Amino acid sequence: MSAIPQTTTRWRLTSRTPTDPTDTLSTLTLEHDAPIPTLSPTQVLIKTAYLSLNYRDLLIATNQYGFPIPTPIIPGSDASGTVLAVGSSVTHFQPGDKVASSFFANSPTGYNSPQAAGTALGGGVDGVYAKYCVYEETGLVKLPEQISLVEGATLSCAGMTAWTALYGYAGTEDGKNPGRSLEGETVLVQGTGGVSVFALQIAKAAGATVIATTSSEEKEKRVRELGADHVINYKTTPNWGEVAKSLTKDNKGIDHIIEVGGANTLDQSFKAVAAGGTINIIGVLSGFEGAQPSLTQLIYLQAKIRGILVGNLEGYKDFVDYLAKKQIKPVVDEKRFKFEEYKEAIRYMESGKHFGKIIVEADPAQD
Ligand SMILES: NC(=O)c1ccc[n+]([C@@H]2O[C@H](COP(=O)([O-])OP(=O)(O)OC[C@H]3O[C@@H](n4cnc5c(N)ncnc54)[C@H](OP(=O)(O)O)[C@@H]3O)[C@@H](O)[C@H]2O)c1
Repeated sequence: MSAIPQTTTRWRLTSRTPTDPTDTLSTLTLEHDAPIPTLSPTQVLIKTAYLSLNYRDLLIATNQYGFPIPTPIIPGSDASGTVLAVGSSVTHFQPGDKVASSFFANSPTGYNSPQAAGTALGGGVDGVYAKYCVYEETGLVKLPEQISLVEGATLSCAGMTAWTALYGYAGTEDGKNPGRSLEGETVLVQGTGGVSVFALQIAKAAGATVIATTSSEEKEKRVRELGADHVINYKTTPNWGEVAKSLTKDNKGIDHIIEVGGANTLDQSFKAVAAGGTINIIGVLSGFEGAQPSLTQLIYLQAKIRGILVGNLEGYKDFVDYLAKKQIKPVVDEKRFKFEEYKEAIRYMESGKHFGKIIVEADPAQD
């Protein structure tokens, strides 16, 4: 077991607006020899092994995120590592445990209250981009042996969001049957980013029919290999929502839509959804302004629209158990980045060339 260090290398978001107008990522600074805070009774010190990126990292760093962020703050939400030390009242973890971060430091169950939402890692409180990082005990899960540290670093934001979209918030009426069979149900995933690929994998393992959209022929092959039953190119088929609906039995429409596009995809999601189906509002990949479908259309559709804010710790544990039980392997992009290359990793995400999760290595020797 390593000695307990006193200092760490870490990334910090020093302001919301770029300090250098020619560099949108000048908000991010790499700091060496930063002091590691003394553990409170409820905290755990982790030696970080891997981190992964989310679209949120790009939005926050470039000041496009829709929620207030206090600065300076350590960015990022997804990490894995090994427990080095625990506070005096910590009961669930001990040194040597392999763990993954949970998106919220403290959101045990049910819908996220404003207080719980305020504990978002890298959003409300310090995040994970530190080689040695302090967590609340309530903000970690133990990794089962079937899930490696690199896989564990991909789960907290995108994976958990996909899980909540398909199975609801644990601890609510909606979320009372996690991991149930989805046989006979259809799921539409938009694009091939982190959330959508997780949703595809979870839904296929549950027996659903999955329709995926993508803008790339190369990625079309990859999603088919992951089990997508139908793939539609949303660039060459702008009415992909109608096409997706026509692929369902008796033109019934889609039961679960993973709506990561936002303003410019919602219109087609309305065209695709089944009566009684759910459009899970998750992301803003297509921008912030677009043609909004009408509310009267929603009445006619008799569909549900549900906002997804990642999920909670109870659901996260269900999700991790499900991955282990179903032997689902999170998809990681082939390109990897060193800890010091966080900005390059964000630029790579911005380019949209990735498939699945982008990994940043802090201490890969732990795996
Ligand atoms: N609400 C929440 O709790 C929550 C949690 C996680 C993420 N999010 C949000 O969800 C969105 C997805 O996050 P992510 O981490 O999965 O992103 P990501 O990994 O960066 O996803 C990128 C992929 O999305 C696809 N895409 C881009 N524009 C699209 C469009 N107009 N229509 C359909 N697909 C499009 C592209 O797929 P192709 O290359 O195949 O075209 C692209 O490669 C982001 O807006 C993020 O902020 C929200």
